[in-house]
Amino acid sequence: MFKAVVVCLSDKGYRGEREDKSSQVMIEILEKNNYEVVENILLPDDYYLLKHTLTEICDLKKADLVLTTGGTGFSKRDITPEATLEVIEKAVPGIPEAIRAYSMTITKRAMLSRAVAGIRNDTLIINMPGSPKAVKESLEYIMSSLHHGLEILK
Ligand code: MTE
Repeated sequence: MFKAVVVCLSDKGYRGEREDKSSQVMIEILEKNNYEVVENILLPDDYYLLKHTLTEICDLKKADLVLTTGGTGFSKRDITPEATLEVIEKAVPGIPEAIRAYSMTITKRAMLSRAVAGIRNDTLIINMPGSPKAVKESLEYIMSSLHHGLEILK
């Protein structure tokens, strides 16, 4: 069974002004696919906090997979891809490419996601967009291939 950590980036969610539905969607899909979700972290859109959080998860070997949600768009506070790129040792461009290609068949706005993915130590980090709808569409699409990648990484 693979271990997963879910990290939600949302200023409003962190302040308690918005319910974090996207993490719940991710957790449901992960659990349905036999992943153990060991932690669900809610952070403000803060570059250094995210960088520190991702580094700690990977270096303490807390999880095989880290999924982030939010902060991949164009707003001034969106820093998720930049913090992720600082932390990873190997880029995995195929995953966000696949998500964007599939998502473009649903909405052309998928091209606005700047999401990235990569590996640090034995952990794969993948950025997902922020909305529950986008998270469901993206994660369900990659789920079957993800399993194979994580098996090789283990
Ligand atoms: N991908 C899918 N599958 N479905 C969607 O509805 N929305 C897009 C995009 N990716 C969307 C999607 C929109 S509107 C934006 S702005 C970007 O993801 C970035 O989202 P974020 O800023 O919430 O991370």
